[in-house]
Parts: sequence; C-alpha cells; structure tokens
Amino acid sequence: MADWSDFIQQIKRNNDIVDVIGSYLELRRHGANFMARCPFHGEKTPSFIVNRNMQIYKCFGCGESGDVIKFVEKFESCTFTEACEILAKRAGIPIPESSANRDDKAYLERKKKRDVYLAICRDTARFYYRAYYSEVGKTAREYIAKRGFDEATVKRFGIGYSPNSFALPNYLQSKGYSLEDCVKCGVLSQTTSHGCVDALNGRLIIPIFNMQSQVIAFGGRGLDEETIARGKYKNTSETPLFTKKDNLFAINIAKEQKQQTALPNLVVVEGYMDVIAMYQAGFRGAVASMGTSLTEQQAKWLSRLGDTVYICYDGDAAGQKATVRGLDILDKAGLEVRVMTVPEKLDPDEYIKKYGAEAFDRLISDALPLPDYKLDLLEKTFPINSNDRAQRNNALAKYVKGALTMLKALDDVRQARYITAVSLKTGYSEDYFRRKLSENDDEEQPQSDVAEFSPEEKAKYFVAACILRGEDYASIEEKPLCNTVFLSDLYDYLLECKVNGVKPRPDMLYTVCPNASPEQYAEIIDVDLSKQRHDVNERYFGECRRLITVEKLKNRRDQLTKQIKNHPDDNTLLEELAKLSRKITEVK
Ligand code: GTP
Ligand code: MN
Repeated sequence: MADWSDFIQQIKRNNDIVDVIGSYLELRRHGANFMARCPFHGEKTPSFIVNRNMQIYKCFGCGESGDVIKFVEKFESCTFTEACEILAKRAGIPIPESSANRDDKAYLERKKKRDVYLAICRDTARFYYRAYYSEVGKTAREYIAKRGFDEATVKRFGIGYSPNSFALPNYLQSKGYSLEDCVKCGVLSQTTSHGCVDALNGRLIIPIFNMQSQVIAFGGRGLDEETIARGKYKNTSETPLFTKKDNLFAINIAKEQKQQTALPNLVVVEGYMDVIAMYQAGFRGAVASMGTSLTEQQAKWLSRLGDTVYICYDGDAAGQKATVRGLDILDKAGLEVRVMTVPEKLDPDEYIKKYGAEAFDRLISDALPLPDYKLDLLEKTFPINSNDRAQRNNALAKYVKGALTMLKALDDVRQARYITAVSLKTGYSEDYFRRKLSENDDEEQPQSDVAEFSPEEKAKYFVAACILRGEDYASIEEKPLCNTVFLSDLYDYLLECKVNGVKPRPDMLYTVCPNASPEQYAEIIDVDLSKQRHDVNERYFGECRRLITVEKLKNRRDQLTKQIKNHPDDNTLLEELAKLSRKITEVK
C-alpha cells in the first residue's frame, strides 16, 4: 500500500487546489483566500472558501470541507478512486496497478463495463448518423426539412435515423460487441420472436449526451402513423449509463456554450424538438427534461451552469402539481426560478415558428419569479376577485392558506417582500402573515444536540491543528488519549510525520481521516491562528499540551491504582506510582 499513499501524495503535490477548483468554479480572490458560490448547497452569496496554503476548501454555509480529492469526488459525483484517477490524468501521473482494487474490486469491473457501454452508444450514434445521410434516410431528412431544421443544427445534435430492426444488431456484432452488452446499454431489445432488435427501429434518432459529452442514450421519434401509434417518442431503456429522470437532454450543449462564451439564459423545456428549435433560433442554453418532473439531480446539473433557470413548459403542464414540486426542487437548490408562459398553448418550437425568436425572447423577459407565479396559480384556482361575494370569501381563506405555504418556503428577505404583496392582495394584515409564519417556525425548531467538548478534548484539537499547520513551536512527543477514531487517526499521522521527518500537510486530514463528520473537520480547520499573536498562540499551545499530558498521566495512575489493589505487594508497581505522582505535580 506504500505505492498508494505515494500516489496520493503525488496527486496532491501536482494538483493545486486553487487551480483544480478554479477549473470548475469561478473563483474570486478574497484576501489570502479564494471564494466562490458553494456548489454543494444552494446559495446566492458566496461562502465557499479555498485556501491555497492549507490546500483545503470549506463552505461556511453548509459546513462541507475537504481537500482536492474530496472536491472532485463530490463535484463529479464519483468514488474516491475515480477522483484520484481524474486528478492523476490531469497532472499526467501514471496510475499504480494496485490503486484500482484499493476500495473495491468490483469497481474495476464496473468501470470496464461502463467503458464498453459508452463505446457501444458512441458506435450506435455513428451508425444512426450515417443511416440518416444514406439512401434509406431520405424519409428522415424530408421530415427534418419539413420541420424547418437546417444542416448545421442536425449536425450539432448528431441527429440520426434507424432504418430497420436488424441493421444495428448486425453492425454492432460486426464491431465485436456482445449482444448482451448491447441490450444492457439499451440500444438493442431482446424479443422472444426475433432475438435482439434495434430498440428504436424506424425512428428519427436523437442522441442524448451526458455532461461530459458522451452519448448515453437515445430518443426516437416515430415518423409514420404505425410507429407513432406505439408512442410518438421512445427512449432506450434505463441503463447503468442513463436514468431519464436524472438527465437533461442537451446539457452538454449548454455546458459547451458556457465554456466557449458566457452561458445564455438557461431554459428548461419539455421536448427534444423544442430544444433543437431554440438552438437554431439562437437560444443555446435550452435543455429538456424529457417529459418527467424535475429531480434533485437535474437541479444539480443546472446549478453547475448558472444561477437562474427559466421554465418553459407547454400550455397547462406548468401549473400541474408535479411540475410545481419540480420547481420547488430547483428553488431549494439555490436556483432563481422564473416561469415562462407561452400563449395559445403552443410549445416553444411552435411559438418560435409562428412568432419568431424576438417574440420568444420577450417571453423570457416576461417570465415570473417562482413566488409570483405561484400566487398567479393560486388566484386562478381561488378567484379572490370574483364578483360573487360568497365565492370570493370562500376563495379568500383558501388563497391565504396557499399563500402561507408559499411564503414558508422563502428565505427571510424574499418573505418580507412577498408578505407585503400578499397582504395587499388579500386585505389581511402583514402582521397576520408574520404571526402565522412564526407559529409554524416554533413547531419546526430542531433540537440542537451538539455535545460540548471537555477542555482536554478542545486541547487535543488545538494541538493537532497547530502541528498540522507546521507552527514552529508545535510538536508533541507521544500520542494523547484519543476517544474518537478521528483524533486517533489524526495523531497517528502527525506522529508518523515526526518519525519520518516530513512536514504534515493540512489537506492530508481528509485522506487519513476519510470518514469524519463536517463538525470534526471543522474543529481542526476552523482554528484561526491569525486571530492571535504568535507568542499568544505558542503559550496557549503549551497549556493545551500540558493538559493532555496530565490527562494521560492521570489515566495511567488510575490504571496503576487498580492493579495495585489486586497485587498490593508488587513493589515495581508501587515505585511506578510514586514516580507518576511526582511527574504529575511537576507537569502541572
Ligand atoms: P414534437 O411533436 O415532435 O414536436 O414533440 P415535442 O417535443 O413537442 O414533444 P411533446 O410536447 O409531445 O412531449 C414532450 C417530451 O415528452 C418529448 O420530447 C419526449 O421527451 C417526451 N414524450 C412525449 N411523448 C412521449 C412518448 O410517447 N414516449 C416517451 N418515452 N416520451 C414521450
Ligand atoms: Mn412540439
């Protein structure tokens, strides 16, 4: 395993945390640190700090902290091993053989399979693409022309065509893939009568890419009545590469757009064709949720790309409960959600064709912030301005109830603003809403159960923090009593560094204590030595060290006392006890 730990050290030496995180997030210099908006929890003002000296990051909003490897692990949603590989590749470091089976042997197997599936999807996309431009693809090309999509757009999306049931399985077999793998990654379906067939037979093909621009699935649109009768659209099945509810069609295009220039407005629509039509009309931040309601994973993808998301759903779809729940998920992820309304129940594709890009751009500008949109919906359901007095009164109570639910989900600043709006609308006083909201608050107050540390515990954290930062006065001779795995592992590491004569690295905290809680890490990395003068810190360090030495000696004394009770005649024990007692008074 020495190999492995050398490998980690090498990765860390060659991947400066500021450079790595800077390649994912926009970092702004802030004194000695760098700041960004935290990618791990929703927030609008940055509280995510990257410290180059310590080679760690920490978010003071959500408490998440770590080293460069942990950042990649979390950001890429991958395993520790995969994160190491990404960083090794980035720095051009060869990966040691033994690394792969460090945490799990199954991992290598999974990764190999994943690579095969990706290759199958890529080759399948090429096959469809060629078919589209070949003789058999004429129907598809005519369809695309009829819908008004041009060559550049078709190429950008890699649109293809599936000619029949058997050409694809034959092709994939000729490339050496096993039918079983082709079924596993969704491109072929197993039938009882005809064996393995093209899952999207006879359809116009729309490849679905992941954030890394790899093909992971396909959507197929029926072109003739008979196929459409079996579903206007069909997707390749859910596979290890693709879960429909967790992906967004065209997320790769939005991302590439962001990398090239600034990201245009991020717009979530329902359909593939809407995205494609918008792209052609110059809206390059469009993605499609492919007909399902939005999930947390999708919110994560979106929040990597921008802060504001426009929702543009067909006709009445936007008002449906499941949709609104999806919008709340985006809001919770810290995204500013704006809801567009397309008139005449048109979808974006139809609207752009009928009224043009500029008109669509106005729909974007007119989009309502989520709270306003919810109030609009409420008013549609409960007509508080109805002419019928009984109906109006009946509606009012329900509207107020709905408004309270909406207000409850808001942060303080927005809440204050919307209380005013709702109060004006309903005639209920602002106080009424505030009172109602604070009643609910009391119920939900969570009981805090943060255990207070003993002075000895505090001392151990402070001592470790100073040693880890390489303070010149900071060293200890032996391991203190440690009642947590965290402290025990940490002190093992610190003493190992001492024995080997190497400087401890703060970021190694996350490698040697990989499973600690955010609070435990915080006890070490939140120690701010710059708050006090050097000599004050040094003095405090001395006191802490004394405290933990005394604790250890006293512990030994208690053990000895017990032993002596059982062997009252043992002189060596008695001598040791006497020596210990002297030492304790000395140190104290
Ligand atoms: P066009 O009629 O080609 O313009 O389609 P559209 O993009 O306007 O699609 P529509 O609004 O009918 O549906 C929105 C999205 O829901 C589609 O893009 C698909 O992702 C999905 N969808 C619609 N119908 C089906 C279906 O029958 N099966 C599956 N799997 N998905 C569908
Ligand atoms: Mn459509």
